[in-house]
Amino acid sequence: MSQTYYIETWGCQMNELDSERLSGNLKLRGYRRVDDETQANLILLNTCSVRDKAEQKVFSRLGRLRELKRETGAKIGVCGCVAQQEGERILERAPWVDFVMGPGNVGHLDEVLEHGTRLAVEFPEDRKYDAFAIDRTSPTKAWVTIIEGCNKNCTFCIVPTTRGREVSRPFDDVLREVRTAVDSGRVEIELLGQTVNAYRCPITGNDFGALLAAAAELEGVARLRFTTSHPAEVNDSMIAAMRDHANISRYLHLPVQSGSSRVLRRMKRLYTREKYLETIARIRAAIPEIHFSTDIIVGFPGETEEDFQETLSLIEEVRYGSLFAFKYSPRPGTPSVRIGPPLDDAIASERLQRLFDLHEEHKRERLASYRGRVVPVLVEGPSRNDASMLSGRTDDFWVVNFHGDPATPLGSILGVRIDAAQHHTLRGEAVR
Ligand code: SAH
Ligand code: F3S
Repeated sequence: MSQTYYIETWGCQMNELDSERLSGNLKLRGYRRVDDETQANLILLNTCSVRDKAEQKVFSRLGRLRELKRETGAKIGVCGCVAQQEGERILERAPWVDFVMGPGNVGHLDEVLEHGTRLAVEFPEDRKYDAFAIDRTSPTKAWVTIIEGCNKNCTFCIVPTTRGREVSRPFDDVLREVRTAVDSGRVEIELLGQTVNAYRCPITGNDFGALLAAAAELEGVARLRFTTSHPAEVNDSMIAAMRDHANISRYLHLPVQSGSSRVLRRMKRLYTREKYLETIARIRAAIPEIHFSTDIIVGFPGETEEDFQETLSLIEEVRYGSLFAFKYSPRPGTPSVRIGPPLDDAIASERLQRLFDLHEEHKRERLASYRGRVVPVLVEGPSRNDASMLSGRTDDFWVVNFHGDPATPLGSILGVRIDAAQHHTLRGEAVR
């Protein structure tokens, strides 16, 4: 009987990709994946610590797994950002955990298993990146890491602690991985990094714009996306690459966090409100149809009603198509903890609601503007809510559910006439 494993993934795309890497590594060793933890010999929790009570959530999950381990004897590994953040404390509080392994060690899982290592939370010099062992879950899309870690030190953020210093992968390694993904039918490529546009090839010094252009020009790349861009790292070469390659998605996630320069300074975001808006204007001048999305933190220590008004007015000015907003959550050991306590929770909730209400109008307007138009849609599979329909995305990243030939190969791009805009999605019919 072969060994079996179960993986649970929380958090961002980087974590999802790390799970695909862990999974690929285990499959190479002859393990088989199971969806039911009670059937597994090895249970991996790939955790996230960016917000909320991440540590408590992990310990309560581990409490339940302790019972299971008594019955099945499964090995338990805690991976991801909580593993990095809590390290040894996990082994002390939950001694039934077999190993704790941080994001810098994803490529070293086999050594951890072989040597019975209990704690792997350093960032090895030779961070192994097994590009060819990735167990990709989507038949049409592939994530490709181009830069690991983050050298920015936003005062609220735990990521620099949990994912370490920036390391860019060599240009040619990235392109080779993209080519392999495309050959396996993953025609949509998403380049990943915490600050993806800070990329610089360690060998040639080529920047992110150069990499984008080179990846977009590879045969068979139908769509190219990337996340997450830092506003202070947007440059002309990146904008030109987007403008000049129609297969680069007309979607840009550009987290602003706040519309108040005073708050941005305390967050150490490295730009002001004015500078951010100027960047937006430059990109719009080059690519007028671009769909902007953003992240916002509400209730940063000391955020006044006036600061918050500036965030609302910035949202009004940019009119984002998509927006993700969070209440500030103090993260252990981050500099913002010393700036002051979070805002009163009721005030933060109320601000969050006002912000969502404003954004809702912008989103509705943007979605409504597609009605009657024929747009290119990359087919991803049957629609989630209605299996008689197909589902895919526009090149500016909206989900479209549509009537079309069920035999359409996944990954092809079809013209779809949009006849209705729904809450978050579009509906339509494929045209011949
Ligand atoms: N560069 C990263 C940022 C990771 S955190 C990326 O790839 O997206 C993702 C988002 O979570 C941030 O943009 C920020 O809006 C939010 N966030 C990070 N730390 C936070 C905190 N302490 N409290 C609330 N939100 C936070
Ligand atoms: Fe975090 Fe700021 Fe880096 S949000 S991931 S420290 S750019």
